[in-house]
Amino acid sequence: MNSKDQIVKQKIEDLKSEIEYHNNLYYNEDINEITDLEFDKKLSYLIELEKKYPKFKTNDSPSQRVGGTITKKFETKNHETPMLSLSNTYSESELIDFDKRMKKNLPNQKIDYTCEIKYDGVALSLIYENRKLKYALTRGDGKKGDNITTNAYTIRSIPLKLSSIAPNYLEVRGEVFISKSNFKKLNYYKKKNNDPLFANARNTASGTLKLQDSSEVAKRKLDCFVYSLNSKFESVNNHNEALKTLKNLNFNVPDSYKKCNSIEEVISYIKFWENKRENLDVETDGIVIKVNNFNQQKELGFTSKNPRWAIAYKYKSESAETSLKDITYQVGRTGAITPVAHLKPIKLSGSIIRKASLYNFNEIKRLDLRIGDTIIIEKGGEIIPKITGVNIDRRSNESKAIKFITQCPSCSSQISKIKNEANYYCRNHKNCLPQIVGKVQHFIGKEAMNIEFLGPETIKGLINNDLIKNIADLYKLNYDDLFDLKIEYKNSEGERKIRSLKEKSCQNILNSIIKSKNSSYSNILFGLGIRYVGKSTAEVLSENFKNIEKLINAKYDDIIRTSEIGDKIAKSISHFFSDNDNISIISELEKNGLKLYSKKNININSSIKDIKFVITGTFNDYSRNELKNIIKRYGGKVSSSISKNTDFLILGENFGPSKKSKADNLGTNIISENDFKNLLLK
Ligand code: IVH
Repeated sequence: MNSKDQIVKQKIEDLKSEIEYHNNLYYNEDINEITDLEFDKKLSYLIELEKKYPKFKTNDSPSQRVGGTITKKFETKNHETPMLSLSNTYSESELIDFDKRMKKNLPNQKIDYTCEIKYDGVALSLIYENRKLKYALTRGDGKKGDNITTNAYTIRSIPLKLSSIAPNYLEVRGEVFISKSNFKKLNYYKKKNNDPLFANARNTASGTLKLQDSSEVAKRKLDCFVYSLNSKFESVNNHNEALKTLKNLNFNVPDSYKKCNSIEEVISYIKFWENKRENLDVETDGIVIKVNNFNQQKELGFTSKNPRWAIAYKYKSESAETSLKDITYQVGRTGAITPVAHLKPIKLSGSIIRKASLYNFNEIKRLDLRIGDTIIIEKGGEIIPKITGVNIDRRSNESKAIKFITQCPSCSSQISKIKNEANYYCRNHKNCLPQIVGKVQHFIGKEAMNIEFLGPETIKGLINNDLIKNIADLYKLNYDDLFDLKIEYKNSEGERKIRSLKEKSCQNILNSIIKSKNSSYSNILFGLGIRYVGKSTAEVLSENFKNIEKLINAKYDDIIRTSEIGDKIAKSISHFFSDNDNISIISELEKNGLKLYSKKNININSSIKDIKFVITGTFNDYSRNELKNIIKRYGGKVSSSISKNTDFLILGENFGPSKKSKADNLGTNIISENDFKNLLLK
């Protein structure tokens, strides 16, 4: 290695340890020694050096934490020892029975327990070889799990490298979760973009771990608490010491664990956390009680499903009874119809509950709900309370069966089911008000066009006044259209009121619309609201189909060939572009200056501005229409016949002889497809 290489290698090593040091302080100790900006600068510098000198990039580098790998299919891998589950109880008396069982099986021995909080997330096994994180496996079927190592790299609280006190081989198990505060933030952005909300933090964490794009995983900011040291570790003889050792190895071990000398102490620990757990920033559902001593654990052994030396005490999730006043139906952007239960207001877990979601019609049937019923609602990790049952004993003769709707509650079109889906849909996608409002809201969302100052009521006002019918019409709005526009809204008492748009709001809206014309191609693609095309699919599409014409003309087979795009998405994309109304909306968007092409590919240059082209023949990389659109986009002009004003004739294969001879006679420049590309890139 030459001396320059040595210096670079050392610099990379120094940066790696510095970054991991601050990372651990921040994520596991809650301490900030440097600012976020300084941290990001160090990380960017490391990424830059590793890009320049890839031979020095290793798997334990903190640069892995930002993700960037795409996994088409996760391979499965056997667990060293099965990942079992815990036996559960909801009662103190069963805990006392558990203690008796332990004492009976370990006669004349003193038994200590370690109590920990039971975190409501997803189990993960972490395998370190030579002190580096080698594999991260999900629980799977308990015997083998998915190898999601690249996604685990992005979890900042999981150390990528262990200190020298660790043995060469080490397995650690823990629970991956999304903190309550972070979950709220994720849903805040979902709501702002009018996207369906994540139902609960646990399922979101579980789904996130299996995302194919690790940079998307990095954005979700997962966390991981560890709860077991699964390998032999010199001088660690009990679980309490194991947790201390894990903490020393920079794993995230919450300080809440406690060694208890008796089952009575265990019960006071359970009581202590019963209400306090609400203040923790992680969803919890109980307490895990483990026999502390490893030799005793060994003696007690396992059943086929659970360790005999541990038990989970589960807190009952808070529930309440109230009456079902009514059921209404909401129509989403895609036309999906969701029943909403309206309840007699009731306080549960500190908030007043008025509504509960019922997901779909089957749920009403499953619960056998009737209007007027006394229903049981529960609030666990879910943000929206769930109806878990009906108190049949309190059903009165006046309770009314629920009539399922057969028509859209908004536009009265016939509703129908989509194969393999539980929801009913209104298919009047183009004229049903809530669907249009939803589509516009999606289009203007932060992750799409980021148009501000337009709430759902204003959008409804624009539609009701025939000012817009679709997303493209937003770009035709002018000051006179907006000024004094009457907007209907409901005040906090639920009364209908009317306000009108004032000068400042009109200016803000128009400015924001103009600004949105600079949105990236992939943001626009996302904004079109093609079913199943989320942010990352839109990015993939924008990279693989460099302009919208290519995507419009792509066949199902071309789309499915794209990495990360499966059958369902490909079908939905082809379906979207086979609709002429969608194509006219896209043309309108283009006419209004939206740039539906990847800028990464072509260097924008105005060398063809006002230049007049005529096109003849067929081309390799573009269809004639694509070529025309590109010329127009770059400010050039296209005409159908040669005149003395024509600057260039672009000549393809099988060209029209009359155009060529006319160009020859007038001395017009004749260029090939490649010459044209060079002209663009000049
Ligand atoms: S110990 C044999 N400790 O709860 C399993 N588990 O069914 C030993 N969990 O899948 C697990 N917090 O993912 C343990 N402090 C904790 C835990 C915990 C959450 C999860 C774990 C397991 C499930 C038990």
